[in-house]
Amino acid sequence: MSIITDEENNYKKVDINKTKNDIVKPETIESDRKFENTIRPKNFEAYIGQSALKETLKITIAAAKKREQPLDHLLFYGPPGLGKTTLAGVIAEQMGVDIKITSAPALERPRDIIGILMSLKGGEILFIDEIHRLNKIAEEILYPAMEDFYLDMTTGKGQTVKTLRLPIPKFTLIGATTKAGALSGPLRDRFGIIHRLEFYTEDELAEVITRTAGILNISIDNDGAHAIAKRSRGTPRIANRLVKRVADFALVKADGKITQKIANNALNTLKIDNCGLDTTDRNLLMLIVEKYNGGPVGIETLAAALGEDVRTLEDVCEPYLLQAGLLQRTPRGRMVTPYALDHLGIKNSNISIQGSLF
Ligand code: ADE
Repeated sequence: MSIITDEENNYKKVDINKTKNDIVKPETIESDRKFENTIRPKNFEAYIGQSALKETLKITIAAAKKREQPLDHLLFYGPPGLGKTTLAGVIAEQMGVDIKITSAPALERPRDIIGILMSLKGGEILFIDEIHRLNKIAEEILYPAMEDFYLDMTTGKGQTVKTLRLPIPKFTLIGATTKAGALSGPLRDRFGIIHRLEFYTEDELAEVITRTAGILNISIDNDGAHAIAKRSRGTPRIANRLVKRVADFALVKADGKITQKIANNALNTLKIDNCGLDTTDRNLLMLIVEKYNGGPVGIETLAAALGEDVRTLEDVCEPYLLQAGLLQRTPRGRMVTPYALDHLGIKNSNISIQGSLF
């Protein structure tokens, strides 16, 4: 299997935290890309976590192979950093086909999507990241390609306009999105299989960390792996980044081995607390507590007060704060939870949460 990306063209993710310490932000940062490619698991055995999804996929792949048909189009959704691209690579490997990887922002002009569809060979996988950002024209080109494997091309202008139906080889589209709700209905309906990726448990992340450390020749014990896992926000991308940073710390401050003590010291130095929160997350929670009496408060107000954009808060900070039970979304805005107050060390306050005094 080979992986072809259009990195040399314009596959760029928006780095929304360019100027900040983004070590615990789950979106891809530039330094991740090469590193992730070197440690990416290539098969289901090496791919840790998402066990229910893996079992379903194994069956789907076996069935497609028996029928000698390409896989149905697949949509993966869920927070960033949970391994959607990695999983697409594993599927290609298991199917024994090539995968072409791109992202919706790189498919700006009709010729971008037409070019990539025409370059596909029979059975190949096309992976489109951030598929919710596909523009209308690209979507409309995709519909007949996904459904019946042809391209509707128009030539000429005005009265001489002609439509041409161009067959293309059967292929499988794997779309990935952090925002399933932002996908248009017609596009969503064209995926035969839709799956959500879940946050990883501490044990799963410890396994990911141990595996990565092994590949990078980093010495780590089980408690060290768990100490990093606890602060990795359920996200392998963050866990993998933290291993490298903690390994630097272990090398400079100790004998190079990552133990629980070294990991905790390193992560405290990086200002990542024992829930995996960084300064931005804590500022967000403290703002709600101190200025808005625990909430509810609107996301726009919070973004303006913190000097962040709404998208950063919604896509990057919030998913984990919600999942960790530190933040709640209500129709009237965001609220902190009693657990968040506990985590922030706020006691004896008069903050009213869901009508009860904490
Ligand atoms: N690295 C990133 N995600 C992974 C996973 N799910 N399993 C193993 N290594 C990974």
